Amino acid sequence: MFFDLEPALPDAECNHCHSAPLMTSNNYLNNGLDSAQSYKDFKDYGRGKFTKFPSDSGKFKAPSLINIALSAPYMHDGRFKTLEEVVDHYSSGGHGSPNKDVLIYNLKLNDRQKKQIIAF
Ligand code: HEC
Repeated sequence: MFFDLEPALPDAECNHCHSAPLMTSNNYLNNGLDSAQSYKDFKDYGRGKFTKFPSDSGKFKAPSLINIALSAPYMHDGRFKTLEEVVDHYSSGGHGSPNKDVLIYNLKLNDRQKKQIIAF
């Protein structure tokens, strides 16, 4: 479920952005944490604060997930206290904005799948 990259299969596809061996693609991406009508509308410009490119607003570096269970809270601002909250975020498809990554969408994970991703 974690490593599959086939959109037609009902799974999580985390591997697009958190790939082996370090469990990160080392890219800056918008993983749908905040709603924004325009690039100027983000609470935190993230990568855009440094590059000054409007389309980098709201993008953050995908971090490594090695030993992730030991380093709560999660995301750049620590908004999620548990991995359950993280997986619920990804499963819901997150919040809309002009550059939300196309790979962040309603994954429709059931409770068993959510538990399996967290266990992994
Ligand atoms: C489109 C790319 C993308 C996909 C797909 C993705 N992530 Fe992420 N992930 C990110 C980015 C970018 C961040 C950093 C966000 C931030 O710092 O606010 C992140 C952060 C995280 C964090 C927090 C790490 C920390 O140290 O705070 C966890 C945990 C996580 N992702 C797990 C997952 C899981 C599980 C999946 C699959 C269900 C997944 N991610 C799919 C891009 C992605």
